[in-house]
Amino acid sequence: MTDQATKHAKLTIDGVSDPIELPIYSGSVGPDVIDVGKLTSQGYFTYDPGFVSTASCDSEITYIDGDNGVLLHRGYPIEQLAEKSDYLELCYLLLNGELPNSAESADFVDTIKHHTMVNEQLRSFFKGFSPNAHPMAILCGVVGALSAFYHDSTDIDNAEHRKITAHRLIAKMPTLAAMSYKHAQGQPFIYPRNDLGYAENFLHMMFATPCEDYQVSPTIAKAMDRIFLLHADHEQNASTSTVRLAGSTGANPFASIAAGIAALWGPSHGGANEAVLNMLDEIGSVDNIPEYIKKAKDKNDPFRIMGFGHRVYKNYDPRAKVMQQTCHEVLEELGVEDNPVLAMARELERIALEDEYFVEKRLYPNVDFYSGIILKAIGIPVEMFTVIFATGRTPGWIAHWNEMISGPYKIGRPRQLYKGYTKRDYPN
Ligand code: CMC
Repeated sequence: MTDQATKHAKLTIDGVSDPIELPIYSGSVGPDVIDVGKLTSQGYFTYDPGFVSTASCDSEITYIDGDNGVLLHRGYPIEQLAEKSDYLELCYLLLNGELPNSAESADFVDTIKHHTMVNEQLRSFFKGFSPNAHPMAILCGVVGALSAFYHDSTDIDNAEHRKITAHRLIAKMPTLAAMSYKHAQGQPFIYPRNDLGYAENFLHMMFATPCEDYQVSPTIAKAMDRIFLLHADHEQNASTSTVRLAGSTGANPFASIAAGIAALWGPSHGGANEAVLNMLDEIGSVDNIPEYIKKAKDKNDPFRIMGFGHRVYKNYDPRAKVMQQTCHEVLEELGVEDNPVLAMARELERIALEDEYFVEKRLYPNVDFYSGIILKAIGIPVEMFTVIFATGRTPGWIAHWNEMISGPYKIGRPRQLYKGYTKRDYPN
């Protein structure tokens, strides 16, 4: 919980003589927060739809400065992590607060590798889904179902149980993600291989078949690892807040993460990477881009340029910068720079970055704009994009859940501004 107040704010209400004094707390960096907790006892609620001005918790995991395009995990800038670290090391950092030494790193990687298989009985769950089920629908279901298998580690008050659960979730997520793809393809599930790296193993489970091995190119494996790394955590976004909210009831971690996956699915959040490619499909050709830019600017048209804009980043998305570079590396490696969909994406990016509407509203390409393009080039089907986001985001969700459960916390319970009927009698 927050420390001592550094300052106080005074709230004066019309017709009330004494102002209400509210404590102000300072974090290590970033805006101060006004503690409005005692307003309820004075007969008021705060009103902040979309939580645009609301800090819902204390956290030591991730810091974002949206105006300056800064993203820090446990203090380390995302650009440095993308260049010098890798996904599993970042998972360790998010979960434990510090980078691992070489022995801790080897131990962590080994632990994750030895939790990659899922219970054989879980395979039968997939049979219940139609072959054309969206893989996010499957993922919500099967991750929630993990709570039916691991009764040995769902005591949320036991730190060792929480640790095992974190390892299981990080290890099993790529396996479940690849299984949801194989189910749609009508192909047999491919078992994980513990001799491969995390991203390599995921690509193996996606693309190998019992008849044919899949040789993973180091550039593609590195790009996949980077996609996971760039999605690993992002402070109190909609899905992470959902995980915290579900977890605040005492729900088990598998159920809480399943709730986060559901929240991620929407096109305003993790579903945007899929929506980018669907939008490019709809636009059809570079010649139609001006018409769609016009639609995006029209207040009466719900169309938006997917992959542009961010609630917090109003300058640039630092993840998008790294992703843009990876995007070029992948396209070069695959020799697909002439692809018409990619040409459209480039043109859209060029026009939107120069257009007054986008510049004025500070709408820049976000991480999902480039990740969708990379994934498409790798040959990952569009429906899998958000599943990959969910896989990458798992350590962030679990780190936030763990942070909340380890300290004092309250059940999340927002209030409302009620505008419905006042009391009325049931007709006789
Ligand atoms: N295309 C066209 N206009 C836009 C767009 C867009 N992509 N995004 C925002 N605007 C306009 C919006 O119409 C509004 O205009 P006005 O002030 O005239 O009403 C203004 O910009 C502010 O938009 P907002 O919806 O109030 O901003 P927000 O902070 O609530 O929404 C957002 C942020 C990400 C939901 C939104 O920018 C959006 O819908 N973008 C497209 C979807 C997308 O790419 N989402 C992925 C986000 S990054 C991955 C993640 O972290 O989940």
